[in-house]
Amino acid sequence: MKQNLPTLPGPIGVFDSGYGGLTILSKIRETLPEYDYIYIGDNARTPYGTRSFEIVYEFTLQAVTKLFEMGCHLVILACNTASAKALRSIQMNDLPQMDPARRVLGVIRPTIECIESITHSRHVGILATTGTIKSESYPLEIHKLFPDIQVQGEACPLWVPLVENNETEGEGTDYFIRKYIDELLAKDKLIDSVILGCTHYPLLLPKIKKYMPQGITIVSQGELVADSLKDYLHRHPEMESKCSKGGQCRYYTTESEEKFIESASTFLKEAVTVQKVEL
Ligand code: DGL
Repeated sequence: MKQNLPTLPGPIGVFDSGYGGLTILSKIRETLPEYDYIYIGDNARTPYGTRSFEIVYEFTLQAVTKLFEMGCHLVILACNTASAKALRSIQMNDLPQMDPARRVLGVIRPTIECIESITHSRHVGILATTGTIKSESYPLEIHKLFPDIQVQGEACPLWVPLVENNETEGEGTDYFIRKYIDELLAKDKLIDSVILGCTHYPLLLPKIKKYMPQGITIVSQGELVADSLKDYLHRHPEMESKCSKGGQCRYYTTESEEKFIESASTFLKEAVTVQKVEL
């Protein structure tokens, strides 16, 4: 199904199941302010973390198709769950039919590439959604590059709902922050680096730092993904020339516009205008 997709240079598309990808988008825009961006949050169907492979793939493909139709040549899946469960199928099966020249990139690979320079003990922990942990994507990707690094993961099913419900400062949140950190570290006493493998988690960083024992490095993804995208565009001038420049960013949500505006301000610390979109 080769589609009639727009061919002129277009914005870089950034997709997340909800608001979490805004933490990635803001770091990307800090690093690469000259480009135009479109953000889609599938807020009506979030969270993805507890959904099956088939559903995450179906929803993610719908969003990628929409971003291509809106003129994007390059789409970033700013969601670990979508990167874990849908990226490979889209790259291998869908892109060749939709338009082999367009690209979809995820957030897992850029996050793990630097891990070798961070861990000294070569024991690494992952905190992520149930879907990302069950997919085993982090251990698989880490072992492709660094086969000797030991990896333990812990699913944190309540962290995304706490963020989505504006409970980042709440007292009850402390209990669940501590619980998952303790459960992860109990699995391997030699862990010296913990990857926050979910785009929502930077919003919980003050509390995560409070309960993470000293000496353990917390690896947050925003800057890593932004630096990796900068490097990608440098290495791929044919794609860089298809990314329009103007410094504009448009926001779309599958939920109500009012709700997005209210919650997005927590993530972006700035007012945004948003339009509803059907996927
Ligand atoms: N932002 C998603 C991620 O990085 C988590 C939210 C969800 O479960 O939909 O995995």
